[in-house]
Amino acid sequence: MKQTLLLLPGDGIGPEVIAEALRICQLVAPDIAVEEALVGGASIDRHGVPLTDETLERASKADAILLGAVGGPKWQGVARQNRPEAGLLGLRKGLDVFANLRPAYCFSSLVDASSLKRDRVEGLDIMIVRELTSGVYFGQPRGVDTDENGNRRGYDTSVYTAPEIERVARVALEIARGRDGRVCSVDKANVMESGQFWRDEVTTVHQTHGEGVELSHMLADSCAMELVREPKQFDVILADNLFGDLLSDAAAMLTGSIGMLPSASLGTEGTPGLFEPVHGSAPDIAGKGIANPCAAILSLEMALRWSLARPDAADRVMGAVARALEAGARTSDLGGTLSTTAMADAIIDCL
Ligand code: IPM
Ligand code: MG
Repeated sequence: MKQTLLLLPGDGIGPEVIAEALRICQLVAPDIAVEEALVGGASIDRHGVPLTDETLERASKADAILLGAVGGPKWQGVARQNRPEAGLLGLRKGLDVFANLRPAYCFSSLVDASSLKRDRVEGLDIMIVRELTSGVYFGQPRGVDTDENGNRRGYDTSVYTAPEIERVARVALEIARGRDGRVCSVDKANVMESGQFWRDEVTTVHQTHGEGVELSHMLADSCAMELVREPKQFDVILADNLFGDLLSDAAAMLTGSIGMLPSASLGTEGTPGLFEPVHGSAPDIAGKGIANPCAAILSLEMALRWSLARPDAADRVMGAVARALEAGARTSDLGGTLSTTAMADAIIDCL
């Protein structure tokens, strides 16, 4: 049966970078059927909502989904539950892609693009496993109202159930097994009830499912510091939804540019994965044709590897990106002058 890749280019630089990933896909896996749908602001403009039932339905029937980015100043005035970001969150929740893999590796040719010194980042290879469908992003109650003293207040709830922690912790342990065998779980157990619970549950999961993997725990603030002090100490970092969001942006910059980083969001076996660059819609450079397409192309690489079972095609893409960088191909975020399309051309030349 033919495999299907659903493209959701979204907003801002999303369509620009996804167009380049599509060109690469057609070269390395021409038999994959590619479909396209709207998400985020693009969907609001057409349908009035950031994610339609039909798009979610099509996404759940695809073998993999490649998303560009959502959001932009144009939709800032819209009510929160109808903003472009709500489309992305709805997609993550609707597909139940609870494990978000955010690799932060430093291509050797980009070592000097990092804001840290060469010896700190040379050979860096971290995998952040972020819980993606629960925690404070989805916890109830949440809202803005007035308390009994007449004071306006805003609140969110950080809540995790044991099964939610268990399933993402097992993914982190499994991934560590195929790497250096170390998981560092991050929380605020010193302050938060849900943080101590996270730590206790991860410890329990490790006792039953952690054979061959070393588990350590770190406070989230400390982890932020260690990421910029001695990032190579980490192998796999396991974090909840909010801490994973923060730490993955910090880790991204270690590698030279957030324009380089892909991500994979995975659910249970047999369900489609959602693949997206870690960078956002970058409204400041949207439409200029200068965005770095590498994160989108490497997100395609992850889709080929994790959802489409095409490790050979994935290896080809990865090799071509590395060689193009070695040959000096650079977009402006990496200190170069290449346009989005020229960067992709350089990668295609190396395929
Ligand atoms: C990310 C982004 C999203 C998040 C936004 C756009 C909702 O920052 O994927 O890291 O907070 O999860
Ligand atoms: Mg983020």
